[in-house]
Amino acid sequence: MKVYFDNAATTPIEPEVLDAMVPVMKDFYGNPSSIHSFGRQTRAFIENSRKTIARLLNVSPSEIFFTSGGTEADNQAIFCSVRDLGLKHAISSKIEHHAVLHTLEALEKQGRIELSFVKLKANGHIDLDHLEDLLKEKGRSLVSLMHANNEIGNLLPMKAVGLLCEKYNSVFHSDTVQTMAHYAMDLQANKVHYVTCGAHKFHGPKGVGFLYVNSAIHTGPFIYGGSQERNRRGGTENVHGIVGLAKAMEIAHRDMAAHQQQITEIKKYMMQRLESAIPDIAYNGDAGGSSLYTILNVLFPANPQAEMMLFNLDIDGIAASGGSACTSGSNQGSHVLRAIGSDQSRPSVRFSFSKYSSKAEVDYCLNSLMKMYPMPVAK
Ligand SMILES: Cc1ncc(COP(=O)(O)O)c(C=O)c1O
Repeated sequence: MKVYFDNAATTPIEPEVLDAMVPVMKDFYGNPSSIHSFGRQTRAFIENSRKTIARLLNVSPSEIFFTSGGTEADNQAIFCSVRDLGLKHAISSKIEHHAVLHTLEALEKQGRIELSFVKLKANGHIDLDHLEDLLKEKGRSLVSLMHANNEIGNLLPMKAVGLLCEKYNSVFHSDTVQTMAHYAMDLQANKVHYVTCGAHKFHGPKGVGFLYVNSAIHTGPFIYGGSQERNRRGGTENVHGIVGLAKAMEIAHRDMAAHQQQITEIKKYMMQRLESAIPDIAYNGDAGGSSLYTILNVLFPANPQAEMMLFNLDIDGIAASGGSACTSGSNQGSHVLRAIGSDQSRPSVRFSFSKYSSKAEVDYCLNSLMKMYPMPVAK
């Protein structure tokens, strides 16, 4: 059996998405910036996709900017707002994705911003009182806090953070790469200036995403070149990717309630099975509380056999992860688990689910884990 429990890293493409993309690749090759009929046809694909996404998020199409994915969208939001909005101070957290953390640290190193980190509570949630203290002390800032953490799943109270940012006249960027198309988002009801998306996290294609920029924000280009994406991102658009992204968003919203329920049940089922099978099981983050339903980060008891846990799972055909996929090639361990004070002497594994996951797969995974944690034999 093959089990893919690494959907926070990326998801398999949905066949309906592929069906929408293939004709665009095969038959519509005009440059969308050309004014002849070939170009106008491909331009229409892009603008219709933009409208679909804007409708789903209750924003204007002119607030959606296509990018190569979540990383670029995060970079664009942070770089352009620091460069063009006169922001000299940023507030973020130590558990952000590196697309945010490394971008902010680079700007700090260049002397362009001062960077403060908001305190985390024991369960990994942001300390909102400390966030307010920082805003009070530092004044107008760029606040960059992710909606759901990609390693531990903790959810940010977006509305409350947006209101705080409004109170202190600050700019609010939220990395929503893990939550986009997993929750309904009415961006007009949130005081958020930027959110980000990578299509491959919800069964769309890789290498495409978008940045939502609230119409109150005016910044110059991020990529210099042609005047594509209303002069913010030069370069011929990834037309088939954009069509696939919009289709994946549409499908995710169409089936959202059913999938939320199905995946939540799988996560709960895995927690129950783990808790009854392995003594002293614990979780990184707030697994049973305010947590993204697709992610479960398990803190296993120390056990010499469990040292090679990911490797052993892989041998049994089970894909899971020790941290974010982007850092799993490096040997430094997880910056998120370090920041929340997780016991690093115990093995941690992130299991992440999708609409294609099943309880039978959880059972198979438990059987594999039980080889490393055999039930004590009664004497
Ligand atoms: C929270 C978060 N932000 C940003 C990214 C980067 O997105 P992309 O892979 O589309 O560049 C990821 C993907 O791993 C993510 O989980």
